[in-house]
Amino acid sequence: MKLLVKNIATLAGIDRQGLLRRQGQQMRELNCINDAYLLVEDGVIADFGSEADLVMPDGEVTVIDAERGTVLPSWCDSHTHIVYAGSREQEFVDKINGLSYAEIARRGGGILNSADRLHAMSEDELYEQAMQRVREVIAKGTGAIEIKSGYGLNTEDELKMLRVIRRIQQSTRLRVVSTFLGAHAVGRAYAGRQAEYVDMLINEMLPAVAQDHLADYVDVFCDEGFFTPDETGRILEKALEYGMRGKIHGQELADSGGVEVAVKHCALSVDHLESMTDRDIELLRGSDTMPTALPGTSFFLNMPFAPARKMIEAGLGVAIASDYNPGSTPSGDMKFAVSLACIKMRLQPAEAINAATINSAYAMGVSDSYGSIAPGKVANFFITRPIASVDFIPYAYTTPIIARTFLAGEEQ
Ligand code: NIG
Ligand code: FE
Repeated sequence: MKLLVKNIATLAGIDRQGLLRRQGQQMRELNCINDAYLLVEDGVIADFGSEADLVMPDGEVTVIDAERGTVLPSWCDSHTHIVYAGSREQEFVDKINGLSYAEIARRGGGILNSADRLHAMSEDELYEQAMQRVREVIAKGTGAIEIKSGYGLNTEDELKMLRVIRRIQQSTRLRVVSTFLGAHAVGRAYAGRQAEYVDMLINEMLPAVAQDHLADYVDVFCDEGFFTPDETGRILEKALEYGMRGKIHGQELADSGGVEVAVKHCALSVDHLESMTDRDIELLRGSDTMPTALPGTSFFLNMPFAPARKMIEAGLGVAIASDYNPGSTPSGDMKFAVSLACIKMRLQPAEAINAATINSAYAMGVSDSYGSIAPGKVANFFITRPIASVDFIPYAYTTPIIARTFLAGEEQ
């Protein structure tokens, strides 16, 4: 099955070097070809180049006219909680009235509120609700997504969430990566007994998740008022025994040691980082851990933004992701996250686009197959309507730009 996309004004996000991530100065390079074509074979990128050099391939070919649009690799969203029950706009109003995220959590709202609703909802209904959001983000250009559990907080409900994630994996063309986040908060049944909850997570939840191969990674909310670096370290150590690396929620609410424990245990990513320090930047240098900023969360919670500019100046790679969840970020719009990265974190458009494609693919362990226009990669891409330049994408921060989306070479 061959698909030829012609009449592309700009083909962006090209890589011929097989880069798995871009760091420091490399993040400024968003390689492009003007007046280009893109050839897909059996769902995989086979070839691309200048249209003047195009030799028509043999056999049956479906030709797509890009109508002078720009082609980009699909967004890779390496941090979401897209499987959840209901919504939490009451807390949104509470926040407008002055309550902080931590205060809402202390009152038994926040994550525990979502856990109660998830407990009461059938697996089928949970899947249907999540699929509505999944369809929404596909239409907005997302082609690979990480989805976390973490609204179950007991073994049965965590497994229910992970099964829903698997069902999404099986029923869409989206590349779905699954993360077990039992340590998102202490479940209600263990209120006041955090140490026992962590023991239960290690001895009961983790083996059950591993046995059914329900998760690729393990996450811990390592922050003030949630889990300590020691508890996080214990969970990560055990998870590694089952072959699951960490993807840590760290240093959102306070300078609480999340980066240090993530780097020490070779986590794949450490995310949030609104309260990270210069020392954390030093710790990340030379590590395999991808710092991931969630600018939509800072925007929605009116909090400081992660120091992404500083990290890039220090030579680090940075990823950005949506954090789509009912409490702190009810949006999976990666184009808006890219705009926020430019406007609020002072990233150049090329840096922000690399952060939302190749680096966020790295942050979920799939950058060998996703995140750039490269020979042999899965053909996940979108075609924009004609736009003046790639910089127009974050600049026009509420303008819908997508004309057509393709996952594994199939139009969505
Ligand atoms: O990533 N920070 C922790 N967890 C989520 C919020 C979860 C919620 O409020 O439901 C986040 O922002
Ligand atoms: Fe999160």
